Amino acid sequence: MKITDINMLSADDYILLRKAILQKLKKRLTTKRFDHTLRVEETASTLAKRFSGNRRKVEIAALLHDYAKNYTDSEKLILCKKLHLELSNHEQNNLDLVHSKLGAELAREKFFIYDTDILDAIKYHTTGRPHMSLTEKIIFIADYIEPGRKMFDELAQVRQAAEVDLHSAIVKKLVLTIKYLIDRGQYIDPITRETYEYYFDLHTTHK
Ligand SMILES: [Fe+2]
Ligand SMILES: [Fe+2]
Repeated sequence: MKITDINMLSADDYILLRKAILQKLKKRLTTKRFDHTLRVEETASTLAKRFSGNRRKVEIAALLHDYAKNYTDSEKLILCKKLHLELSNHEQNNLDLVHSKLGAELAREKFFIYDTDILDAIKYHTTGRPHMSLTEKIIFIADYIEPGRKMFDELAQVRQAAEVDLHSAIVKKLVLTIKYLIDRGQYIDPITRETYEYYFDLHTTHK
């Protein structure tokens, strides 16, 4: 059965789905990644409460956001081919980046999740994108501020911002991400730049 809206599931079916996902994640992920995933779920759930988000959508998106992270590069390539996922030159040279969109495809393939809000939150959790839904924003931030991340001053500022204003947290996170990439001479995905410009404008005009 295709799940087009996670909120249509009965309480029992939802519990079963969550259990099935956790079982697969345990096999699929390293312990470190599995623990990160659980912390992202908890953080996302807290943010959903704080900003009136949808608890089920953020929980399932959080659980599956890094599903494809621990595949080897060659496994990622094989899966992308099988699922007809087109890769840019940049993605082909940086296969770690592919885990987001591959994760969304696998959520559909393995768990029959067709809830587009969940799929988009998985797909865009690394780059973000302009006009993100509340679920997408929550996953984008929860992934970054979950309590297992090594603490540094600027991260504390993103966490603080996320107490009151998601857009401010998004801008702060993107500044850090872009700085990090520039410092290492790495490529900045155009969508990351667009996301930064979009939320910078939105945040400053609504101040
Ligand atoms: Fe990720
Ligand atoms: Fe993650």
